[in-house]
Amino acid sequence: MIRICPSILNANFADLPNEILKVAAVSDLLHLDVMDGVFVPNTTFSFEEARNIIDYSPIPVDAHLMIADADRTALNYLETKVASVTVHFEACGNPKELLRKIRGAGKRSGLAIKPDTPFSEIENLIEDLDMLLIMTVEPGFGGQSFIEAMVPKIEKARKWLDAKELNSTWLQVDGGINLETIKTARKAGADTFVAGSVVYKSDNPAAVIDNLRKLANEE
Ligand code: DX5
Ligand code: ZN
Repeated sequence: MIRICPSILNANFADLPNEILKVAAVSDLLHLDVMDGVFVPNTTFSFEEARNIIDYSPIPVDAHLMIADADRTALNYLETKVASVTVHFEACGNPKELLRKIRGAGKRSGLAIKPDTPFSEIENLIEDLDMLLIMTVEPGFGGQSFIEAMVPKIEKARKWLDAKELNSTWLQVDGGINLETIKTARKAGADTFVAGSVVYKSDNPAAVIDNLRKLANEE
């Protein structure tokens, strides 16, 4: 099962409802990048703005929270209609407890790791996750290149999930995914793909998503 999650980070923020409509029919989830200017050197949406998008999105929203002090700041999202909440391991004091709270609120629990964080750091949390997000760029900005050195990390995570028979845990990649790198990431074992600039820099975002899905399915 392949999932494609377009990121609106590179969409036209002045016309987000229409930008989302361009991809809604062909996407599995809408990827919402929340940045606070603290955990990452960029700011996107306040909680109120994010909640507004979550409310009007016609498809389920996958919130990627690049925000500091996640144990506290992520809790707001549990009161929204968001489908999935991903927090950064590096921004959590007690990730196990936070992931359990996310699940307890009926959301998919996601944990993201930056390129410098090894998989071994989060091995003991794997049972508390519905989705592991392996960042394939440094979080903060769209339009960066896929870091090839992340491929062994994706492979390791895939092996671990398979060995533990965690078949309903999604393995997501985010950053630099395009019509080439999606094949690499799929081969390494990812099943859930975030794509930002490749989608929104195109004149036909829906066609790009169809192509990404087709390429991932071929691997
Ligand atoms: C980066 C964000 C990504 C970003 C991906 O910090 O988490 O979701 O939008 O954009 P591309 O696909 O352009 O790398
Ligand atoms: Zn993201």
